[in-house]
Amino acid sequence: MIDQETRTVSNHWQSPLGFVAAAAGSAVGLGNIWKFPYMTGQNGGGTFVLFYLLSIVMLGFPIMVAEVMVGKISQSSPVRAYSRLSNHSRLWQALGFVGVMTGFIILSYYSVVGGWTLHYLFLSVARELPQDSQPQAYADLFGSLYQSVRLNIWWHSVFMGITILIVLRGVRSGIEWVGKWGMLALLVLLVGLAIYSSTLPGFSTALEFVFGHSENFTWTSALEALGHAFFSLSLGMGAMLTYGSYLQRRDKVLTTSLAIAIADTFIAIGACLVLFPITFSVGLEPAAGPGLVFINIPLALLQLPFGYIGSILFFLLLSLAALTSAISLLEVPTAFLIDSLGWSRRLAATVCGGIIYLLGFPSAVSGGEGFWGEGLKQTLGMNWFDSADYLTTNWLLPLGGIGISLFVGWRITAEQRKTELGSIPWLYSILVLLLRWFVPIAIVFVMLHALKVL
Ligand code: PHE
Repeated sequence: MIDQETRTVSNHWQSPLGFVAAAAGSAVGLGNIWKFPYMTGQNGGGTFVLFYLLSIVMLGFPIMVAEVMVGKISQSSPVRAYSRLSNHSRLWQALGFVGVMTGFIILSYYSVVGGWTLHYLFLSVARELPQDSQPQAYADLFGSLYQSVRLNIWWHSVFMGITILIVLRGVRSGIEWVGKWGMLALLVLLVGLAIYSSTLPGFSTALEFVFGHSENFTWTSALEALGHAFFSLSLGMGAMLTYGSYLQRRDKVLTTSLAIAIADTFIAIGACLVLFPITFSVGLEPAAGPGLVFINIPLALLQLPFGYIGSILFFLLLSLAALTSAISLLEVPTAFLIDSLGWSRRLAATVCGGIIYLLGFPSAVSGGEGFWGEGLKQTLGMNWFDSADYLTTNWLLPLGGIGISLFVGWRITAEQRKTELGSIPWLYSILVLLLRWFVPIAIVFVMLHALKVL
């Protein structure tokens, strides 16, 4: 058994609730409110949502449990965790390292979108959002932000700067506090907006779209739904593993994992129930793409009596949600350097944050005409930003998921598994079965279909 003392007291969560809040803060982010609704729109609605929910239950939840558990028993960041529990096998260490790299790539483009949320927060406060009831004005506004190299680089810099500052402060004072309060406020605002959306004429069409059958569902959509389940739950790259490593021995893996998965799913579906009624009521296209939340929300809010305050609140909370996820993405390589090379937190967070910041530049200019934007689009069919997102979400995270499930299913000892998960015997058996067989086979099956090999 690994010695708890390898981490100091301030390196643990204050309470299990603190862990759930921070981990839910990691899970709930742009993935839920920005990405999930627009992906649902582009993939035709209901069947995509169903496949996503299935992926959460059958793949996401078991992997969440596996990651949190490996973190908790190893009390280490990914690479060292795999090393400790596998008698220093190089192969497993490499898996941890791929996770760290995946986090680098994700944060580099995530920060650009985080920057968009800050830009809209700024526009809301400065009363510079168009006071127009025509969707076109908002679509133009988003289009000009998307293409602007100057704005993207500026807000990406601000967003990364804030993220680095919080990670510098460490587990308790930074990550736990922001997670707890930000999540609560977000939940309240989302429920309020959903109530408003349910009064709109497009509500029933929206319900039909989100929960009904959709026509154009393909294996590519299936891979996207599966990959997004990983992205949304922050799985497959060691973020949950790292947060799990700050748990204490008495904390429960199963209940905390369940709470995180439920909170994340609730908010993703909630975001759809806010956005699609607005989309259909004003006659917008559900497949509008990445601009969906930035066009629909201000458009709807500014028609309301307290719209000015409403849009400030909304973008404040969206920025916070993005920030709590970005923090977890930066925490992984930071913890890796602290653990493996003995660096100070200050140095580790600054160096990793700095590299990720630079790596984000190509994403920040991806909406433009240059090489990283239009240039790559003409050769690859996708600009840099989209390629980074596609590679990490659809391939690297699910592959990391296969790794962790095989690790917990086959490599660690039954005794280690039982100590953490054995309290409910039938659930234990199901989880082991899923991790050993179902998860890896199902992911490979969908991947091969998407590649048209099957
Ligand atoms: N889960 C976050 C979101 O939904 C993104 C994320 C992915 C965070 C992977 C950490 C690790 O926005």
